[in-house]
Amino acid sequence: MEQIQEAIQRRAADIEEIIRAYLPAETGYQRTVLEAMNYSILAGGKRLRPMLMQETYKMFGGSGREVEPLMAATEMIHTYSLVHDDLPAMDNDEYRRGRKTTHTVYGEAMGILAGDGLLNLAWETAMQAFPMGEQGETAHMQRIAGAVAVLARKAGVYGMIGGQTADIQAEEAEQVSMEQLLFIHEHKTAALIQAAMMAGAILAGANEQQIRQMERCAYNIGIAFQIQDDILDVTGTMEELGKPIGSDEKNHKQTYVTIRGVEASAREVERLSREAMEILSSVEGDSGFLRELTAFLIHRRK
Ligand code: IPE
Ligand code: IPE
Ligand code: MG
Ligand code: MG
Ligand code: MG
Repeated sequence: MEQIQEAIQRRAADIEEIIRAYLPAETGYQRTVLEAMNYSILAGGKRLRPMLMQETYKMFGGSGREVEPLMAATEMIHTYSLVHDDLPAMDNDEYRRGRKTTHTVYGEAMGILAGDGLLNLAWETAMQAFPMGEQGETAHMQRIAGAVAVLARKAGVYGMIGGQTADIQAEEAEQVSMEQLLFIHEHKTAALIQAAMMAGAILAGANEQQIRQMERCAYNIGIAFQIQDDILDVTGTMEELGKPIGSDEKNHKQTYVTIRGVEASAREVERLSREAMEILSSVEGDSGFLRELTAFLIHRRK
């Protein structure tokens, strides 16, 4: 347990450096929005999505650096989704990653613009994966284009934004069905985790069947991750999480926990994670780290 925790921390520290390399200098008349962007993305965070991307890339034999701009881009998209998720019009939360939320510090307009800025910078960053000014090999170019396309699809209205839409609308509903809840979890949370693992696989040259396997694997990890997030919203502490507990109840969100209770939810996290680990075991490459990471997430407290 301690070994895997250390390994995760080491990788997160390396990812931190990769992300930093793509962040903007805080100058010019637009300086405030640049500060707000850096404020939100440099607040820590587990860096889970870039980690999953890099490790999936390695598992399928990838060894180049073209994965790095895509890792940074994915974390930018994830961070923008959090900045907007915390806005008064959405979950209206005051703390994130152990500090005041971006809109609380910089005002609501800057919170919206910082999110927009991060989303756009993500695409600018992702494009840097393409070898510029060189005659790139067509197959290599196609892999990069495929990875960027998956990220775009899974972050958009058919992915994360679609899930956030259904999540916000469900606040008004008397009753939320399990089917509806799974739609929300799959899209608002699993989609970006799927993008991370699928893009890592695509970049490394995995075949269609392997990419689909990663999509299924990440579905299980993603749903488990959101159920655990909902559990921690009830059983966690602000100190551990760096964000307020009770946010879901405040916003009348029905979650796995409100429908099934904490214990059954925890069993579901375990079951989904085991399923993901089984898929990983069936892959040809070395899935050791990814399996341990998945197991570690079952009992995460932040
Ligand atoms: C929070 O994501 C939003 C959810 C999808 C549950 P994380 O728990 O990965 O947040 P950070 O990046 O570590 O802050
Ligand atoms: C957020 O779900 C999923 C996103 C796409 C941001 P939550 O609203 O439960 O995430 P937290 O608890 O605020 O991190
Ligand atoms: Mg939310
Ligand atoms: Mg929220
Ligand atoms: Mg939550």
